[in-house]
Amino acid sequence: MAIDSRLEQLIRLAAPYWAGEAEVVRTYWTSPKRTRDTDLLWLSRQCFKEFWGSGVSKYDRGGVFLGVMKKLIAQAPEIDVSLDRHEVLDVLEGLKAEFAHYCAFADIYDALRPVGAPRLNPQMLESWPEEDALTALRYRHQDQHGAVGMRACKFTEGGYCALFSEGKALGGRGGIEEKIAEACAFVYEDEFGHMLAGIADIGQEGLGEGDWKLFGELVIAQMQQRIRMRNAQFGQPLSEQRVAATFRGEIEPARFDYQRAGLAA
Ligand SMILES: [Fe+2]
Repeated sequence: MAIDSRLEQLIRLAAPYWAGEAEVVRTYWTSPKRTRDTDLLWLSRQCFKEFWGSGVSKYDRGGVFLGVMKKLIAQAPEIDVSLDRHEVLDVLEGLKAEFAHYCAFADIYDALRPVGAPRLNPQMLESWPEEDALTALRYRHQDQHGAVGMRACKFTEGGYCALFSEGKALGGRGGIEEKIAEACAFVYEDEFGHMLAGIADIGQEGLGEGDWKLFGELVIAQMQQRIRMRNAQFGQPLSEQRVAATFRGEIEPARFDYQRAGLAA
């Protein structure tokens, strides 16, 4: 089967889950359970993801910021010996972007915290069980399925930026909603292209016939765990029954932006 129709199939597979993650966030915004405390909780958890979270290559608390910095320091003697300077520049640009995302959410946390409460710092950030389960699942897929597992992680990374697009939609409401919208719009612009590339360049991987089936299974498992991670981050705005229904595909799928992905026919 041609790569394009394979990619289309994968997008059809993932689109209901992207919509599910968006529904979690959208439901939370108007949930009666939403308070300043629950806002502080999801913001601090998002800061955890931006600072300590594992992208697709680390599982310890090294994370996307410190882990990458430490690796760079260790490799410094190799710059222009065995490590190209432009590769280093790319890593530094990625590092700055991730730290800017951390700052964006940490700034809202600090603006929202009660008078006298401590400012946010990375040491006080905690993970949560569903986030740990997602990371563990991704590492299991990489360990058990090598390149196919790694590709599945790249495909599901970012979850079609559902949090950021739903956050952006709060724009125009003023107050804290406006701050959330601004932060989400900023991160969305940063991440959307990156996320699309992780989806669109699957065609370059040269997967064999048998690999595609496995790839689809890994993607579904990761996307389902993403919904659980996000639902827990926001204090379970979706009921277990609703989560199960989204897993059965009882949801309007997200519309994939073929134009922006550079895949328009
Ligand atoms: Fe980020």
